Amino acid sequence: MQDKQTIVDRINSLKEERNAVILVHNYCRGEVQDIADFLGDSLGLSLEAVQQDADVIVFCGVNFMAESAAILSPEKTVIIPDMDARCPMANMIDVPSLRQAKEEHPTAAVVCYVNSLAEIKAESDICCTSANAVDVVNSLDADEILFVPDKNLADYVAHHTDKTIIPWNGCCPTHDQMLLGDVLKAKSEHPAAQVMAHPECRREVLQEVDHVFSTTGMTKYATRTSCKEMIVATENGMLHRLRRDMPDKTFYPISEYSICPDMKMIDLEAVLRSLENMEYVITVPEELRVRAKHALDRMLTIKRSD
Ligand code: 13P
Ligand code: SF4
Repeated sequence: MQDKQTIVDRINSLKEERNAVILVHNYCRGEVQDIADFLGDSLGLSLEAVQQDADVIVFCGVNFMAESAAILSPEKTVIIPDMDARCPMANMIDVPSLRQAKEEHPTAAVVCYVNSLAEIKAESDICCTSANAVDVVNSLDADEILFVPDKNLADYVAHHTDKTIIPWNGCCPTHDQMLLGDVLKAKSEHPAAQVMAHPECRREVLQEVDHVFSTTGMTKYATRTSCKEMIVATENGMLHRLRRDMPDKTFYPISEYSICPDMKMIDLEAVLRSLENMEYVITVPEELRVRAKHALDRMLTIKRSD
Protein backbone atom coordinates (compact mmCIF):
# COMPACT_ATOMS: atom_id res chain seq x y z
CA MET A 1 0.00 0.00 0.00
CA GLN A 2 1.37 3.45 -0.97
CA ASP A 3 1.57 6.18 1.64
CA LYS A 4 -0.75 9.16 1.42
CA GLN A 5 1.85 11.67 0.18
CA THR A 6 2.96 9.31 -2.61
CA ILE A 7 -0.67 8.97 -3.76
CA VAL A 8 -1.20 12.74 -3.68
CA ASP A 9 2.03 13.34 -5.64
CA ARG A 10 0.99 10.79 -8.26
CA ILE A 11 -2.49 12.37 -8.52
CA ASN A 12 -0.92 15.80 -9.04
CA SER A 13 1.40 14.65 -11.80
CA LEU A 14 -1.40 12.75 -13.60
CA LYS A 15 -3.61 15.82 -13.30
CA GLU A 16 -1.03 17.85 -15.14
CA GLU A 17 -0.42 15.15 -17.76
CA ARG A 18 -4.14 14.84 -18.54
CA ASN A 19 -5.01 18.54 -18.12
CA ALA A 20 -7.53 17.53 -15.45
CA VAL A 21 -9.22 19.36 -12.58
CA ILE A 22 -10.62 17.74 -9.47
CA LEU A 23 -14.03 18.93 -8.31
CA VAL A 24 -15.10 17.79 -4.84
CA HIS A 25 -18.44 18.11 -3.07
CA ASN A 26 -18.51 19.43 0.50
CA TYR A 27 -19.71 16.04 1.81
CA CYS A 28 -16.74 14.01 0.55
CA ARG A 29 -14.05 12.52 2.77
CA GLY A 30 -11.64 15.07 4.24
CA GLU A 31 -8.65 13.55 2.46
CA VAL A 32 -10.41 14.09 -0.89
CA GLN A 33 -11.55 17.61 0.03
CA ASP A 34 -7.92 18.44 0.73
CA ILE A 35 -6.80 17.67 -2.86
CA ALA A 36 -9.68 19.54 -4.51
CA ASP A 37 -9.07 22.20 -7.13
CA PHE A 38 -12.64 23.27 -6.35
CA LEU A 39 -14.69 22.36 -3.31
CA GLY A 40 -18.34 23.30 -3.34
CA ASP A 41 -22.03 22.49 -3.61
CA SER A 42 -23.83 20.75 -6.47
CA LEU A 43 -24.60 23.94 -8.38
CA GLY A 44 -21.24 25.61 -7.84
CA LEU A 45 -19.28 22.56 -8.97
CA SER A 46 -21.26 22.13 -12.19
CA LEU A 47 -20.62 25.79 -12.98
CA GLU A 48 -16.92 25.29 -12.32
CA ALA A 49 -16.96 22.32 -14.69
CA VAL A 50 -18.26 24.62 -17.43
CA GLN A 51 -15.78 27.40 -16.71
CA GLN A 52 -12.63 25.32 -16.41
CA ASP A 53 -10.24 25.23 -19.31
CA ALA A 54 -9.55 21.52 -18.75
CA ASP A 55 -9.90 18.38 -20.87
CA VAL A 56 -10.85 16.14 -17.97
CA ILE A 57 -13.11 16.74 -14.98
CA VAL A 58 -12.67 14.31 -12.08
CA PHE A 59 -15.94 14.62 -10.19
CA CYS A 60 -15.80 13.48 -6.58
CA GLY A 61 -19.38 13.30 -5.38
CA VAL A 62 -22.29 11.14 -6.50
CA ASN A 63 -23.59 10.15 -9.92
CA PHE A 64 -26.11 12.95 -10.52
CA MET A 65 -23.43 15.59 -9.93
CA ALA A 66 -21.00 14.10 -12.45
CA GLU A 67 -23.91 13.70 -14.84
CA SER A 68 -24.84 17.38 -14.50
CA ALA A 69 -21.23 18.31 -15.33
CA ALA A 70 -21.36 16.05 -18.41
CA ILE A 71 -24.67 17.59 -19.49
CA LEU A 72 -23.33 21.13 -19.20
CA SER A 73 -19.83 20.42 -20.59
CA PRO A 74 -20.16 17.81 -23.37
CA GLU A 75 -16.78 18.71 -24.86
CA LYS A 76 -14.98 17.59 -21.68
CA THR A 77 -14.38 14.08 -20.41
CA VAL A 78 -16.12 13.74 -17.05
CA ILE A 79 -15.02 10.85 -14.85
CA ILE A 80 -16.28 9.69 -11.46
CA PRO A 81 -13.84 7.61 -9.41
CA ASP A 82 -16.50 5.17 -8.15
CA MET A 83 -19.54 4.21 -10.22
CA ASP A 84 -21.34 2.95 -7.12
CA ALA A 85 -21.49 6.44 -5.59
CA ARG A 86 -25.19 6.99 -6.29
CA CYS A 87 -27.66 9.28 -4.55
CA PRO A 88 -30.53 7.18 -3.13
CA MET A 89 -32.92 10.14 -3.41
CA ALA A 90 -32.26 10.40 -7.15
CA ASN A 91 -33.50 6.80 -7.46
CA MET A 92 -36.82 7.56 -5.73
CA ILE A 93 -38.40 8.76 -8.96
CA ASP A 94 -38.71 7.23 -12.42
CA VAL A 95 -39.93 8.52 -15.78
CA PRO A 96 -43.25 6.55 -16.05
CA SER A 97 -44.37 7.70 -12.57
CA LEU A 98 -43.39 11.29 -13.32
CA ARG A 99 -45.28 11.22 -16.62
CA GLN A 100 -48.35 9.93 -14.83
CA ALA A 101 -48.12 12.72 -12.23
CA LYS A 102 -47.80 15.26 -15.06
CA GLU A 103 -51.00 13.88 -16.59
CA GLU A 104 -52.76 14.17 -13.23
CA HIS A 105 -51.63 17.81 -12.87
CA PRO A 106 -51.68 19.12 -16.45
CA THR A 107 -51.35 22.80 -15.52
CA ALA A 108 -48.50 22.32 -13.05
CA ALA A 109 -44.92 23.27 -13.91
CA VAL A 110 -42.36 20.59 -13.04
CA VAL A 111 -39.46 21.77 -10.88
CA CYS A 112 -36.76 19.21 -10.45
CA TYR A 113 -34.12 19.33 -7.72
CA VAL A 114 -30.69 18.75 -9.30
CA ASN A 115 -30.36 15.66 -7.10
CA SER A 116 -32.00 13.63 -9.87
CA LEU A 117 -30.91 11.72 -12.97
CA ALA A 118 -30.73 13.17 -16.49
CA GLU A 119 -33.90 11.39 -17.60
CA ILE A 120 -35.89 13.17 -14.85
CA LYS A 121 -34.32 16.55 -15.63
CA ALA A 122 -35.25 15.97 -19.27
CA GLU A 123 -38.93 15.60 -18.28
CA SER A 124 -38.90 18.78 -16.19
CA ASP A 125 -39.52 22.44 -17.00
CA ILE A 126 -36.69 23.74 -14.84
CA CYS A 127 -34.15 22.50 -12.29
CA CYS A 128 -33.32 23.98 -8.90
CA THR A 129 -30.76 23.43 -6.17
CA SER A 130 -31.02 23.83 -2.42
CA ALA A 131 -29.53 27.32 -2.93
CA ASN A 132 -32.15 28.66 -5.35
CA ALA A 133 -35.28 26.48 -4.98
CA VAL A 134 -37.53 29.28 -3.66
CA ASP A 135 -36.32 31.77 -6.29
CA VAL A 136 -36.81 29.22 -9.09
CA VAL A 137 -40.39 28.43 -8.02
CA ASN A 138 -41.27 32.11 -7.61
CA SER A 139 -39.88 32.87 -11.06
CA LEU A 140 -42.49 30.66 -12.78
CA ASP A 141 -45.85 31.77 -14.19
CA ALA A 142 -47.64 28.56 -13.15
CA ASP A 143 -49.62 28.61 -9.89
CA GLU A 144 -49.19 24.89 -9.33
CA ILE A 145 -45.74 23.30 -9.05
CA LEU A 146 -44.99 19.60 -9.18
CA PHE A 147 -41.80 19.54 -7.10
CA VAL A 148 -39.60 16.45 -7.43
CA PRO A 149 -38.07 14.36 -5.88
CA ASP A 150 -37.45 15.77 -2.34
CA LYS A 151 -40.57 16.14 -0.18
CA ASN A 152 -38.64 18.01 2.55
CA LEU A 153 -37.23 20.62 0.17
CA ALA A 154 -40.73 20.85 -1.38
CA ASP A 155 -42.20 21.52 2.06
CA TYR A 156 -39.56 24.19 2.76
CA VAL A 157 -40.37 25.88 -0.56
CA ALA A 158 -44.12 25.67 0.15
CA HIS A 159 -43.52 27.81 3.24
CA HIS A 160 -41.78 30.49 1.19
CA THR A 161 -44.14 30.87 -1.75
CA ASP A 162 -47.80 31.57 -2.46
CA LYS A 163 -47.86 28.86 -5.11
CA THR A 164 -49.37 25.42 -4.58
CA ILE A 165 -46.58 22.87 -4.21
CA ILE A 166 -47.31 19.24 -5.06
CA PRO A 167 -44.46 17.29 -3.44
CA TRP A 168 -42.97 14.04 -4.70
CA ASN A 169 -42.58 11.41 -2.00
CA GLY A 170 -38.78 11.15 -2.06
CA CYS A 171 -36.20 12.27 0.45
CA CYS A 172 -32.53 12.21 1.34
CA PRO A 173 -32.18 9.36 3.85
CA THR A 174 -29.25 11.10 5.54
CA HIS A 175 -31.12 14.35 6.19
CA ASP A 176 -34.53 12.76 6.77
CA GLN A 177 -33.21 10.72 9.70
CA MET A 178 -32.35 13.90 11.64
CA LEU A 179 -35.18 14.43 14.11
CA LEU A 180 -36.52 17.10 16.45
CA GLY A 181 -34.90 15.27 19.39
CA ASP A 182 -31.48 15.55 17.74
CA VAL A 183 -31.71 19.31 17.32
CA LEU A 184 -33.07 19.84 20.84
CA LYS A 185 -30.31 17.70 22.33
CA ALA A 186 -27.58 19.52 20.38
CA LYS A 187 -29.00 22.90 21.43
CA SER A 188 -29.12 21.92 25.10
CA GLU A 189 -25.51 20.68 24.92
CA HIS A 190 -24.28 23.86 23.21
CA PRO A 191 -26.56 26.70 24.36
CA ALA A 192 -24.33 29.47 22.93
CA ALA A 193 -24.26 27.97 19.43
CA GLN A 194 -26.35 29.07 16.46
CA VAL A 195 -27.90 26.26 14.42
CA MET A 196 -27.83 26.02 10.63
CA ALA A 197 -29.59 23.27 8.70
CA HIS A 198 -29.89 22.09 5.11
CA PRO A 199 -33.40 22.32 3.59
CA GLU A 200 -33.37 18.55 2.92
CA CYS A 201 -34.10 18.22 6.68
CA ARG A 202 -37.63 17.63 7.98
CA ARG A 203 -39.83 20.57 8.93
CA GLU A 204 -39.67 19.54 12.63
CA VAL A 205 -35.89 20.20 12.46
CA LEU A 206 -36.04 23.36 10.31
CA GLN A 207 -38.55 24.97 12.71
CA GLU A 208 -35.98 24.78 15.51
CA VAL A 209 -32.95 26.21 13.71
CA ASP A 210 -31.62 29.73 13.23
CA HIS A 211 -30.72 29.46 9.54
CA VAL A 212 -31.54 27.25 6.55
CA PHE A 213 -28.82 27.10 3.89
CA SER A 214 -27.32 25.05 1.09
CA THR A 215 -23.80 23.85 1.86
CA THR A 216 -22.33 26.93 0.18
CA GLY A 217 -24.74 29.14 2.11
CA MET A 218 -23.47 27.53 5.33
CA THR A 219 -19.85 28.31 4.48
CA LYS A 220 -20.67 31.90 3.57
CA TYR A 221 -22.71 32.49 6.71
CA ALA A 222 -20.18 30.86 9.04
CA THR A 223 -17.49 33.09 7.52
CA ARG A 224 -19.40 36.35 8.01
CA THR A 225 -21.07 35.79 11.40
CA SER A 226 -19.38 36.89 14.61
CA CYS A 227 -20.87 33.82 16.33
CA LYS A 228 -18.05 31.50 17.40
CA GLU A 229 -20.02 28.27 17.84
CA MET A 230 -22.35 26.60 15.37
CA ILE A 231 -24.37 23.40 15.24
CA VAL A 232 -24.52 22.01 11.72
CA ALA A 233 -27.50 19.94 10.59
CA THR A 234 -26.32 18.37 7.36
CA GLU A 235 -24.02 15.59 6.18
CA ASN A 236 -20.98 15.59 8.46
CA GLY A 237 -18.41 15.91 5.65
CA MET A 238 -19.33 19.59 5.80
CA LEU A 239 -17.63 19.89 9.19
CA HIS A 240 -14.21 19.10 7.71
CA ARG A 241 -14.45 22.09 5.43
CA LEU A 242 -15.86 24.46 8.05
CA ARG A 243 -13.24 23.49 10.65
CA ARG A 244 -10.41 23.71 8.13
CA ASP A 245 -11.50 27.13 6.78
CA MET A 246 -12.37 28.62 10.19
CA PRO A 247 -10.07 27.19 12.85
CA ASP A 248 -11.05 29.99 15.27
CA LYS A 249 -14.69 28.78 15.35
CA THR A 250 -16.21 25.62 16.78
CA PHE A 251 -18.61 23.47 14.75
CA TYR A 252 -20.69 20.64 16.18
CA PRO A 253 -22.56 18.01 14.17
CA ILE A 254 -26.25 17.68 14.96
CA SER A 255 -25.53 13.98 15.34
CA GLU A 256 -22.52 11.78 14.74
CA TYR A 257 -24.72 9.58 12.53
CA SER A 258 -25.32 12.20 9.83
CA ILE A 259 -23.27 10.41 7.20
CA CYS A 260 -24.17 9.69 3.57
CA PRO A 261 -22.43 6.38 2.71
CA ASP A 262 -22.47 7.19 -1.01
CA MET A 263 -20.64 10.47 -0.49
CA LYS A 264 -17.92 8.59 1.36
CA MET A 265 -17.22 5.98 -1.32
CA ILE A 266 -14.50 7.93 -3.09
CA ASP A 267 -11.13 7.89 -1.33
CA LEU A 268 -7.66 8.99 -2.46
CA GLU A 269 -6.86 5.57 -3.97
CA ALA A 270 -10.03 5.74 -6.06
CA VAL A 271 -9.10 9.21 -7.35
CA LEU A 272 -5.65 7.92 -8.33
CA ARG A 273 -7.10 4.85 -10.08
CA SER A 274 -9.58 6.99 -11.97
CA LEU A 275 -6.83 9.26 -13.30
CA GLU A 276 -4.55 6.33 -14.15
CA ASN A 277 -7.24 4.40 -16.03
CA MET A 278 -9.47 7.30 -17.09
CA GLU A 279 -12.44 5.64 -15.43
CA TYR A 280 -15.40 5.84 -15.08
CA VAL A 281 -16.45 8.08 -17.94
CA ILE A 282 -19.93 9.59 -17.60
CA THR A 283 -21.84 9.95 -20.84
CA VAL A 284 -25.40 11.06 -21.46
CA PRO A 285 -27.16 10.16 -24.73
CA GLU A 286 -27.31 13.35 -26.82
CA GLU A 287 -31.10 13.57 -27.15
CA LEU A 288 -31.49 13.23 -23.38
CA ARG A 289 -28.57 15.58 -22.70
CA VAL A 290 -30.10 18.39 -24.76
CA ARG A 291 -33.47 18.13 -23.01
CA ALA A 292 -31.87 17.92 -19.55
CA LYS A 293 -29.58 20.84 -20.37
CA HIS A 294 -32.60 22.96 -21.23
CA ALA A 295 -33.93 22.54 -17.65
CA LEU A 296 -30.49 23.26 -16.18
CA ASP A 297 -29.86 26.28 -18.43
CA ARG A 298 -33.22 27.73 -17.49
CA MET A 299 -32.25 27.44 -13.83
CA LEU A 300 -28.90 29.12 -14.45
CA THR A 301 -30.68 32.31 -15.53
CA ILE A 302 -31.87 32.66 -11.92
CA LYS A 303 -29.24 34.34 -9.75
CA ARG A 304 -28.27 32.49 -6.58
CA SER A 305 -29.26 34.44 -3.50
CA ASP A 306 -27.24 32.75 -0.74
P1 13P B 1 -25.87 21.12 -1.91
O1 13P B 1 -24.41 20.96 -1.76
O2 13P B 1 -26.23 21.60 -3.25
O3 13P B 1 -26.46 21.90 -0.81
O4 13P B 1 -26.48 19.64 -1.91
C1 13P B 1 -26.71 18.86 -0.87
C2 13P B 1 -26.73 17.42 -1.20
O5 13P B 1 -27.41 16.66 -0.59
C3 13P B 1 -25.87 16.93 -2.23
O6 13P B 1 -25.94 15.55 -2.28
FE1 SF4 C 1 -28.22 11.97 -1.98
FE2 SF4 C 1 -28.59 12.81 0.52
FE3 SF4 C 1 -26.38 11.54 -0.08
FE4 SF4 C 1 -26.82 14.02 -1.00
S1 SF4 C 1 -26.55 13.43 1.13
S2 SF4 C 1 -26.03 12.27 -2.15
S3 SF4 C 1 -29.03 13.94 -1.32
S4 SF4 C 1 -28.46 10.69 -0.16
